[in-house]
Amino acid sequence: MHKVIFDTDPGVDDAMALLLLEKHPDIDLIGVTTTFGNAAIETTTRNALYLKREWKIAAPVAKGAGVKYLPGEEVHPYPKHIHGDDGLGNIGVPDVSDVPLDPRAAEDFIIETVKANPGEVTLVAVGRMTNLANALKKAPEITGLVKQVVIMGGALDVPGNVTPAAEANIHGDAAAADAVMIAPWDVVLVPLDVTLKLVMSRSQLGDLARQGDDAVKLLDRLSQFYIDFYDGHFKDSMVVHDTCACLYVVAPELFTTRSGVIRVFTEGLGEGKTMQKPDGMGFGPSAWDGQKSQLGCVGIDAEGAMTLVCETLVRT
Ligand code: BDR
Ligand code: CA
Repeated sequence: MHKVIFDTDPGVDDAMALLLLEKHPDIDLIGVTTTFGNAAIETTTRNALYLKREWKIAAPVAKGAGVKYLPGEEVHPYPKHIHGDDGLGNIGVPDVSDVPLDPRAAEDFIIETVKANPGEVTLVAVGRMTNLANALKKAPEITGLVKQVVIMGGALDVPGNVTPAAEANIHGDAAAADAVMIAPWDVVLVPLDVTLKLVMSRSQLGDLARQGDDAVKLLDRLSQFYIDFYDGHFKDSMVVHDTCACLYVVAPELFTTRSGVIRVFTEGLGEGKTMQKPDGMGFGPSAWDGQKSQLGCVGIDAEGAMTLVCETLVRT
């Protein structure tokens, strides 16, 4: 069993990832921590609580950062055209005041849970890296206690999706992402290089909804607006970025990885760009020197991955 804390900004593709984590038999979801990103922190937290209630998720939800890691840095506009005004495809998310929130801030929840389960917790981070960076700053010793950190974010050998250089989760708080990438813990980056290959069609999702339980039916409903957005890029289909990172936890054999130090550009034209120095390649002195090598995913068995996604989502 993999004990997982899911750090997320729900978010339509975040919702699918959450359901996959909840349903997969090898995952013990022990916490959900929220961050700003696809919407403001109040909205993403409300959405996490809503999904917790609808999907009867036992794991506690702890509210996280609403602002960036470095004080005073401005938050980017929220992508309402992708995830809707409510962050969940404009389904009209209802009031959730009856669903309790964990009293701890996300960074404290992460620190305490990791310390209580030394060597056992996988952090799966699919929003801004702000909560992880805040936790690292407050308790750097957690790097020796976390099992691994699996991140949906970045673009290694392909263009970004918010600028030619940068992917949204990393661009949204580049300084936080750089701090997480160079910390002495095991990071696996699941970037656009592979997530853009995990594409689910509207009809595939519809089939899952017909076969599956009420949870999948809700997932189908809240995904329609997101599919409409992606329709311009992938015919009548959507990219399930965040689910891709969750798959790495249970089925790493579906991925090809490359090892090397990963740094994030924190300012200028390339702000938010993830750049890996592959192990064994020689360069002059650079900011990559002396940092820990991390794994970046550069290939995926997309067919095998999609089969696993579908099998897991239709479980009851
Ligand atoms: C990432 O950005 C967010 O919009 C998605 O939820 C995903 O985590 C893709 O770039
Ligand atoms: Ca996300």
